[in-house]
Amino acid sequence: MFVTLEGPEGAGKSTLARALASRLEASGVEVVVTREPGAGTFGAGVRRLLLEGEAMTPWAEVFLFLADRANHVATLVRPALERGAWVICDRHADSTVVYQGYARGLDIGELRRLNRLATGGLVPDKTLLLDLPVEIGLARVQDANRLDAESVDFHQRVRDGFLTEATLEPSRWVVIDADQTADAVAEAAWSSLA
Ligand code: TYD
Repeated sequence: MFVTLEGPEGAGKSTLARALASRLEASGVEVVVTREPGAGTFGAGVRRLLLEGEAMTPWAEVFLFLADRANHVATLVRPALERGAWVICDRHADSTVVYQGYARGLDIGELRRLNRLATGGLVPDKTLLLDLPVEIGLARVQDANRLDAESVDFHQRVRDGFLTEATLEPSRWVVIDADQTADAVAEAAWSSLA
């Protein structure tokens, strides 16, 4: 099972990834917890360029996220799925559609096509959207990176974009209220996967 966690900044995705992994491991399955961008040595290098590096053009940003994704899917995600593991991935292709498309304004159709190239057509079985108001999420962010530092309007377009995407493909997406305790979020996520 390939499960992705998506949402605006400060939604608690990494906390939820750990909580889901420990519940799944307790039921005896192999779980791989990973993230985009930033898995492995290659991903770590791309992540530094993207989040700590210089300003770049919008399409340069897209191609860096896609380079990370192409390598991540081929070297880590697919092999894990093929041996029967669960993969829980903190951000994936939907973040590109939402951040670079809805929020940055690049062509969403092109981004979907490029995502298909990068993933070789792999689509998550379930995508959990941790939704919360922008101000609450931004207030939770520590050590703001290059994208966290975008305007409140940008982050509002991110939130709205995720909610729109969730309505376009309701069988894949589950929207979870992230403005509650970590335990309550984990409980809601767990019952949606069960
Ligand atoms: P990260 O620190 O992992 O943020 P978060 O904890 O909110 O996931 O930084 C990843 C940033 O990169 C985040 O602001 C979302 C952004 N991003 C994109 O803009 N496009 C993408 O395709 C991906 C995967 C992430």
